[in-house]
Formats: sequence, structure tokens, C-alpha cells
Amino acid sequence: MSGYFLSIDQGTTSSRAILFDQAGKLVACEQQEFSQYFPQEAWVEHKPEDIWCSVYHTCQAVLNIQNLAPDNILGIGITNQRETTVIWNKFTGKTIYNAIVWQDRRTSEYCDSISTSENQELISQKTGLLIDPYFSASKIRWILENVAGAKKQAQNGELAFGTIDTYLLWKLTGGKQHATDATNASRTMLFNIHTQTWDHVLLNLFNIPLSMLPEVKNSADDFGTTEMSIFGKSIPICAVAGDQHAALIGQACFKPGMTKSTYGTGCFVMQNTGNKPLKSKNKLLTTVAYRLEGEVTYAIEGSIFMAGATVQWLRDKLKIISDASECDEIAGDIRLNHGVFLVPAFTGLGAPYWDPKARAAILGLNRDSGIQHIVAAALQAVAYQTKDLQLAMAKDGLKPHTLRVDGGMANSDWTMAFLANILNVMVERPQVVETTALGVAYLTGLQLGIYKSTQDIANLWQNNKTFTPSISHQLQEDLYQAWLNAVAKVRHSPN
Ligand code: G3P
Repeated sequence: MSGYFLSIDQGTTSSRAILFDQAGKLVACEQQEFSQYFPQEAWVEHKPEDIWCSVYHTCQAVLNIQNLAPDNILGIGITNQRETTVIWNKFTGKTIYNAIVWQDRRTSEYCDSISTSENQELISQKTGLLIDPYFSASKIRWILENVAGAKKQAQNGELAFGTIDTYLLWKLTGGKQHATDATNASRTMLFNIHTQTWDHVLLNLFNIPLSMLPEVKNSADDFGTTEMSIFGKSIPICAVAGDQHAALIGQACFKPGMTKSTYGTGCFVMQNTGNKPLKSKNKLLTTVAYRLEGEVTYAIEGSIFMAGATVQWLRDKLKIISDASECDEIAGDIRLNHGVFLVPAFTGLGAPYWDPKARAAILGLNRDSGIQHIVAAALQAVAYQTKDLQLAMAKDGLKPHTLRVDGGMANSDWTMAFLANILNVMVERPQVVETTALGVAYLTGLQLGIYKSTQDIANLWQNNKTFTPSISHQLQEDLYQAWLNAVAKVRHSPN
């Protein structure tokens, strides 16, 4: 069978359409950023229509670059920013509110109010998650409580909820599919990761009717076909996976212990733990890594909210760089222990702190400090936060010797070299750092029978560069201790 896979990678700040050949080589890529809305302190929204338009246009554009007829596309895979919550009317297709983005903290107080030890235990046991505004459940509840008439419409079975994959699937199939996959479902705080079903106790707790929820499928599955008017041909949609789970697949982390770290808007470290869900004692999340033919593989995840988004902040708000690619040169040969720290708690702190009310700060400035220090501190912050996760994983007995990295920031040699140094592990960067999109291309190939097994996919993984630790143990310790001191200064509710 000849032809390409089309991956739709719908991220927090941009949408990408990427064509891959069957050897996993990136053939063409189109990207479009879209607006972010911050209507109130700590609120983050997207317009669902912007998301759909950016996906539609990038898909059309990527076919044009290659001069490809839709006939050349074997299948489509969708990967997406997770947890972000959209609700629409099943009959009109109209959304009833903007998408509430995963970073949004408006439900902090509500989450505090339900955080009894009994509920914490219940939620963590069923979903593998912690009570936090990050996940979809409290966002759905907020929309139902705050949009006029929404609760009633929901009770009448008129509303549909979806994470972004579900919303795109609905749009691509002209409303024929209201579905998601097990990885996206596992981030809603409503899905029982053991029974693989929506959980009635949790639906009652958040007061969300079951009729709003999508059908949960495998990550490689039959997700219907695109509506004729979109590409002039019906193309099968063969795969759906949350972006971090797709990256785990794109990095071929199919064996327990294999670990990847993706540097997109945020940073997400995920370790494959095999067919048993492992419960963290150190505030990491248990999640569905992927589900293939009904078989669930689990992972432990550490989630950091700001990685590439910190660099974007340097560009868009501080305006001290005009493009992310300038950072390596600006940081240059600065002394690693220059003393300036940027703690990027712009939307609170994720794992292992889970402190939604902490706020960002730049610390340790003196009269000699300048742009170089701030840029270096921003890059270093990404590595220090990864170290926070590495230590939390180590306390849970999970100690990988190598870390596979991907996402836009993995292109920064400066950051990856510092990462290897501060973690004291080998950091491996693959040929294709668009690993998220690659992951759903692989799943598409699996669904179409082009790959016979995950081993066929693992055989395609190729190394681009390995970063080896080279600083003294003492310097590592000193730098990390100073980072912890800086974090302590921005904490709102230390726990
Ligand atoms: O959980 C949020 C995550 O899926 C967002 O990913 O790539 O947009 O940083 P990204």
C-alpha cells in the first residue's frame, strides 16, 4: 500500500498538520498559531472555531505543499492538548462556551472545597489523578453551572462534552462521531482507568450527566471517515491519542521503564509502567499510556505547566527575544551558576508541587544581570523542573538511565546539554522531534495493518544526538539546591 499518514497535532498554542511516510519520515508540515484569551486572572480560553479553522487550513495547506491529492492519504491520526474542555449542542453543533484550557485555574476554590481526604482517595484510586483544576471534570461543571440554561440542556441530553480530539472528530465527521480514546478519557477525572468506563460515582460528585460523554475507543481504532466536503473524499480516521501519550508511542517507549520527556507548551515526563497501574506516593499521576485492541498499558506522568510557553513569554511579553531559536546563542557560555532563577509558576505549579495559586518570579537579580541571565534562567527552569519530576519518580522506585526528549524545545542544544547535566542521565534526541504527531501516524499505520506490531514501530526509532552529563556532582547539587530555594519563595500553599 503506498501513501502517507496525515497527523493532526492540535496543541495549546498552535495547530499542525504533518505528513509522514511509512518509514516515519516527516515529509511536510504546516503550522498555525491561534489566539489565547485571558479574560480574568488565571483564566485561559480558546475559541473552538479558531481551533477548527487552524486545523482545517493547515490540513489543506500541507496537502498543497506536496501537491498531493487526498487519495494519497491512507489515514488520519489526531493528537491533542489534553484536558481542555469544550461543550456543544448535539443538534446545532454550536459550542455553548469557549474552550476552557488545561492551564486555566478558575476552579481552584471549588477543587479545594471537595478536597477531603475521602474524595482524594476516591479520585486517585479510580482515575490515577489528583484533585486539581487541571483536569476536565471541574471545568465541565463550571460551564454547566455558569452558562445560562446549560444545566437543563445537559439534563435533557442536548449537550456533548469533548476534549479537543472529540471536538475535532465531531467536526471532521460532520457530527457523526462523538468519541474519544482511552488516553484522553483518562485525563478527565471521570474515567475509571481500571474498568475503562465512565465512573458513575464521579459523575454524581461533579453533577455531570453520562449522556454528555463520548464513547471511549482504543487509541488505534475506527473513528469514522471525514465528511466529503472537507477533502473532496472520505478519509478514514484511524487513531486518536492525547499528545503526551502519542509522544510516548512516537518515542517507541513500549517497554516498562522507558521514559520520554516532551517540551511543548508545558513539559510532560512519562514512563511506561506496563500492564499494571502503578500508584505514585509522590504526587505523580497514573495514566493510560495507550490502549491497543482492548489491552491497556499504563504510565506514570509528571506534568509541568510551563516549558516552551516560558520562552514564548520572553518573546511576546518581555520582548527580549524575537524568536525562540535565538535563546541558545543569547545564553551562550554564561556561567551555569550565574545566580538568577526564573520560576515559571505563571499558572501555578504542577507536579510535584500541585500549587495552583503559586505565581512566577525572577529571583537573584543584581546590577550585572541582563537579558543573557534571564534567557538562561528560563531555559534552566525547564531542566530544573524536569529534575523535580526525576526525583519524585526516583522516590517511587522509577530510575531510568536515559531519557528520550522531543517537542520544539528539544531542538535547543543548550537546554538539552544542561538537562543532561542537571539530571545526570543520558539525554537522547531522536531524528524526528515532532514525536507527538509521529506517534499518531504510527497508530494510524497500526490500525491499517501497515505495521504488524509495536516492535515494527520500535525498529523505526532513530537517534539524532545524545547529550552526556559533564559537570561535577557538587555543581549539580549546588544548582539544584538553589533552584529549590527559589521555588520555596513563590509557593502559595506549601504542602
Ligand atoms: O496536558 C496538557 C498537554 O497535553 C498540553 O500539551 O504540547 O500543548 O504543551 P502541549
